[in-house]
Amino acid sequence: MKDKQPRNPFVFGGAVKDADFCGRRTELAELKSDALSGQNVLVYASRRYGKTSMLEVLCEQRRAEGVKCMYVDASRALDVGDFVNEYFNAFARELGGVERVIETIKNKLGFGLSFSIRPGAAAGDIAYALDVGVKEKQVSLEQVVNLPFAYAKKENSLFIVVIDEFQEIAKLGLEAKLRSYFQTHGRKVGYIFAGSKKSILIQMFGDKGRPFYQSVKTMPMNGIPEKDWQPFIVKQFAKGNRKINHKQISRIVTLARGCPYLVQHLCHVLWDITGDVIQDGDIDAALNVVLAREDNKYALAWDMLSLTQQKMAYILADEPDELYAKGVLQEYGMVPSAAQKALAGLWAKDVTDRTHDGRYAFQDPFFRLWLLRRKK
Ligand SMILES: Nc1ncnc2c1ncn2[C@@H]1O[C@H](COP(=O)(O)OP(=O)(O)OP(=O)(O)O)[C@@H](O)[C@H]1O
Ligand SMILES: [Mg+2]
Repeated sequence: MKDKQPRNPFVFGGAVKDADFCGRRTELAELKSDALSGQNVLVYASRRYGKTSMLEVLCEQRRAEGVKCMYVDASRALDVGDFVNEYFNAFARELGGVERVIETIKNKLGFGLSFSIRPGAAAGDIAYALDVGVKEKQVSLEQVVNLPFAYAKKENSLFIVVIDEFQEIAKLGLEAKLRSYFQTHGRKVGYIFAGSKKSILIQMFGDKGRPFYQSVKTMPMNGIPEKDWQPFIVKQFAKGNRKINHKQISRIVTLARGCPYLVQHLCHVLWDITGDVIQDGDIDAALNVVLAREDNKYALAWDMLSLTQQKMAYILADEPDELYAKGVLQEYGMVPSAAQKALAGLWAKDVTDRTHDGRYAFQDPFFRLWLLRRKK
């Protein structure tokens, strides 16, 4: 009897870990050393480059070493009260168990917070809701944000706090307050801020007038390099006794520019459509499927651009060696001043990025491929 086919080993959407997690050793080692020395870090990357996965793995690794490491997702909070509750729940989860939280907060740390317990969204998950009125929210914000520090002081240990989608705190009007609280925590609490709205984050940490100005070490996160993908992809396909060669993997990683979500999506489709030995043409077929699936998303992103930004997107999709070379802008009837404005607009909308060699690149490399097809 033929063995049942194993499930598709390529997963996309949501954080991944264990056997689904590839690479990021250098970044994890650097973050570990920074966090353990109380150095605050800003991790930023385009959407779906694997921030959440990496940060969750970082937390797991530290916990295994006995270091407290809590993870807060700021994008879940729609107002200050939500943020306080998210923070509190993350701290409570880290301490583990209702009794310990009550005991630690009320007795050990001497805080007068009152909270109730409500069932969480997932089975077996418990969430705590702070019983605070509108007026007390600011007070409880300070108390809750100080919890990891109070704990670290009491235990004479370090506490790591990861805040994902950190740009959202600007929307909540919490920049100045959080900065003033965090500032008093010295090296007892190591903060790791992360987010995908690069244009906003760079302003938050790079503009002189902003509370978090130059308060962190910045760590841009790029795609995962091919040398890490090669053994990972071979191993995943081998789970179904399928063979993929070195050159084919290289092509996949180049197309996706190492973006983990895109590599996983492409390989997921490839797994579904191929036989035991992957053929070169299968990669093109898989790419067609992925681009068709993402069509709505890209069409929406395209509609969000002004006409000059659309023209500039077309120009950049061709990856010209020299943007201001004769003929490049003229093809679309664009003058350099309009080009500059369009480039700034594409950056502000998080469509493109400036690479280290001064060129412009699409944050989502498949958006570029989608554009090239549309342009034809
Ligand atoms: N280290 C990794 N190894 C393998 N796949 C990964 C890795 N990191 C991310 N992925 C892939 O990318 C997808 C998105 O990952 P994740 O949610 O961590 O990214 P993100 O940057 O936090 O995304 P968002 O910008 O939407 O918050 C995952 O579902 C998985 O398919
Ligand atoms: Mg994320």
